[in-house]
Amino acid sequence: LRVGIIISGGGSNMAALVAATKRADFPAEAVLVLSNRADAGGLAKAAAAGVPAVVISHKGFPDRERFEMALHAELVRHGVELVCLAGFMRLLTPWFIGQWKNRMINIHPSLLPAYPGLHTHARALRDGVKLAGCTVHFVREAMDTGPVVAQAAVPVLAGDTPDGLAARVLAAEHRLYPHALDLVASGRTRIVTRDDGGEHVEI
Ligand code: GRF
Repeated sequence: LRVGIIISGGGSNMAALVAATKRADFPAEAVLVLSNRADAGGLAKAAAAGVPAVVISHKGFPDRERFEMALHAELVRHGVELVCLAGFMRLLTPWFIGQWKNRMINIHPSLLPAYPGLHTHARALRDGVKLAGCTVHFVREAMDTGPVVAQAAVPVLAGDTPDGLAARVLAAEHRLYPHALDLVASGRTRIVTRDDGGEHVEI
């Protein structure tokens, strides 16, 4: 399965995915890395891993839809079949999400539905939760919603700071995302829609 990975920053999740796709008989290959920022550290990681990387800055477009049409065109040009968002920090419009419905996954650094949005670790620490973690989910229009593919729980330790917890969760993300991509790319996930409209993934 041809995978396109979209980043905005350091790209450590992208690098973990690319490394996993190089395993023998992994059911996906990373054919493109897209970044909306020219200064994304992930671009150097993609080059080092031999994956074509393209910068499409959102600043170059009059509105979100035209920016996303450029993203879409590049993905289509590379024959991408599944999009992995990995530290991509722009909200996507219903148009783009519609184009990639059930063909786009994202990783979020919390155990969704807890702690959608930003600063997840600081919020978890402030609330005194004992388990943090990360979630891979199919992307839906509402931010950080969508049927869950896989999750990993990470213990919160005494004295944890947001940065310390973030680092522990990030290490779990680097194991979780390749596992989730393997499940999706190998066709082992099925999205079930309930009568009330709720969705969940059956493995
Ligand atoms: C990760 O914590 C990811 O969960 C969140 O942003 C961070 C991106 O890290 N979306 P990286 O760019 O993959 O290193």
